[in-house]
Formats: sequence, C-alpha cells, structure tokens
Amino acid sequence: MTQAVAYEDAVDLLDADHKGVKALFIKFNALCDDDAPAEEKQPVADKICKELTVHAQIEEEIFYPAVRAAVGDDALMDEALQEHADAKAAIADIQGMSAGDKGFDDKVKALGKAIDEHVLEEREQIFLQARLSALDLRGMAVALFERKKQLQGARPAAAAKKKKVAA
Ligand SMILES: [Fe+2]
Ligand SMILES: [Fe+2]
Repeated sequence: MTQAVAYEDAVDLLDADHKGVKALFIKFNALCDDDAPAEEKQPVADKICKELTVHAQIEEEIFYPAVRAAVGDDALMDEALQEHADAKAAIADIQGMSAGDKGFDDKVKALGKAIDEHVLEEREQIFLQARLSALDLRGMAVALFERKKQLQGARPAAAAKKKKVAA
C-alpha cells in the first residue's frame, strides 16, 4: 500500500529538509552569538550532522541518479556529488570534535555556508531541471520519505559509540 506523504513532490520534500537544517544553523549561530555553553551547542550540531547525512543519502540513492538519467547533465550532478563529499568530510570532522573544542564553532558555521551555496545550486539548477523533466516526482516523494524514515530509525555507529545504548 502506498503511504500518504505530506509533500507535493520529491522537490518539495527535499526543500523542506533544506529549510529544517537552515533553521538549525540559524539556531547554532544564535547560540554562538549568545556565548551559550557547549552543552547547548552540542545537540544542535549533532542534529545538523545527522539530518544532513540522511538528506545527502536519500538524494544520492534516489533523487540524483533519477535526475541524472532524465536530464543527462553529468557535469551538474558530478559537481553536486563533489559538494556532498566535501560536506561529509566536514561532518566527519565535526563529529570527531566536541562543542567545547577550539575551532568547533567555526567548522559548523563554515559547513552552514557551504550548505547554503549547495542548496542554492540545487534550487536554481537541479530542482528546476527535475521539474521540467518527465520524472514522476510525486511518486518519488514516497520513495524518499520511506527511505528517510528508515535511515532515521537506524542507529548511526558514531552516535551509538558516544551514548549508552538504550535497550
Ligand atoms: Fe544535495
Ligand atoms: Fe539537498
């Protein structure tokens, strides 16, 4: 049975992720401006890393290959994948640090700027081309939604190591 999804189409779902993570970056920057303690910044940074990781994965598994096949702009998709690789490297660095560490805030803020630029390119180029193509973006929203839920339910190895694993 097809699950009802609260998004118009794949682009709508992906852009809702973008807005959600942007709100988290704004929150992180505000905490830095307020000289908030590390204990307050850490969970926001953790959430940013986790959400971006899931978002990049559903794009790479489902959305990007479909757009590449439908649109045929390999250079555009290769560039987007390179930006994902750069973001993943930054996320790994951040996950290897603690919010109290020197340079932590700057690393998260730099990631926020890189994501802003990547999202702008997605909106102005990839999303636009996807909507102009013959892709079934409504059907794809369901696939993206289901995979996202599956990934969010999976306990990431790094997080499992840090926290005590609840039964
Ligand atoms: Fe992306
Ligand atoms: Fe995206």
